[in-house]
Amino acid sequence: MKIVTIVQAKGGSGKTTLAMAIASGAISKGVKVHLMDGDRNPQLSEWPARVKEADWEGIEKPDWPASATLSIVPATIEELYETLNKLETSGVDLVIIDTRPGTHSDTEDLIFAADLALIPARPTQMEIPLIQDAFVWINKLRDTISKDDPFPNVRIVVSDAPKSVIDASQNKGTDRLSKKDYDVLVKLIQIPHLSTILPNSKVWSHISYYGPLSAAQGAYQKAKSALIAKSLSKQLDIAEVLAEEIMQEEFK
Ligand SMILES: Nc1ncnc2c1ncn2[C@@H]1O[C@H](COP(=O)(O)OP(=O)(O)OP(=O)(O)O)[C@@H](O)[C@H]1O
Ligand SMILES: [Mg+2]
Repeated sequence: MKIVTIVQAKGGSGKTTLAMAIASGAISKGVKVHLMDGDRNPQLSEWPARVKEADWEGIEKPDWPASATLSIVPATIEELYETLNKLETSGVDLVIIDTRPGTHSDTEDLIFAADLALIPARPTQMEIPLIQDAFVWINKLRDTISKDDPFPNVRIVVSDAPKSVIDASQNKGTDRLSKKDYDVLVKLIQIPHLSTILPNSKVWSHISYYGPLSAAQGAYQKAKSALIAKSLSKQLDIAEVLAEEIMQEEFK
């Protein structure tokens, strides 16, 4: 079982969206997922309720996938590790933990429990220092524990990225990239990162309404809502690659 904790002190940086994207890709790939919400504003654990409330304009909603369970982070560290053990015994492959904004000690506990700590990174000049700060903060935690104790790999995930940035990162040319965006990209790739980039897309800004994308994609396809089905499918492909990259990452 792999445990991924998503962290970034800055609010609104894309943590919950990233959690939902990874979950979407993983569920679609047949991975058994558990989503654990460490935010007091529990957007992740309320995901099924949000989907239920959402207006799909007459399109029949799919059932919540049985391979995706949810919970909120338990009150104590002992209970947290007990819960993680139970999840592993029950056959869960991937636990995705969302955290609250700020550099709180409860968030640090959730980093220590992880195999991989992911920092969502919006590719803008303004966010670069915040991304660097998050990377430094998390890595400094390594110094607070004994050398023999496990510590997660720390990676950024470029997310909410415009097409020009994605094209440039895939060597499809930098002609549409401004000098500013080019400089941002150069700085970001110096930080350890996953190679998958999450695009800026309406699918991701509406993911709380759609729910896990494979189910939503199927429903829109069935309803012959071809345009939406196509954009769901496109983002789902990216989410699958992201999930695969995470599942394959070598953990210490
Ligand atoms: N790839 C993306 N494409 C489009 N919109 C995005 C993307 N990623 C994030 N957003 C938008 O950015 C906003 C903040 O995202 P999100 O809620 O995931 O951040 P967060 O870090 O969890 O916030 P908080 O710290 O308040 O919990 C949301 O409106 C979300 O829809
Ligand atoms: Mg959030």
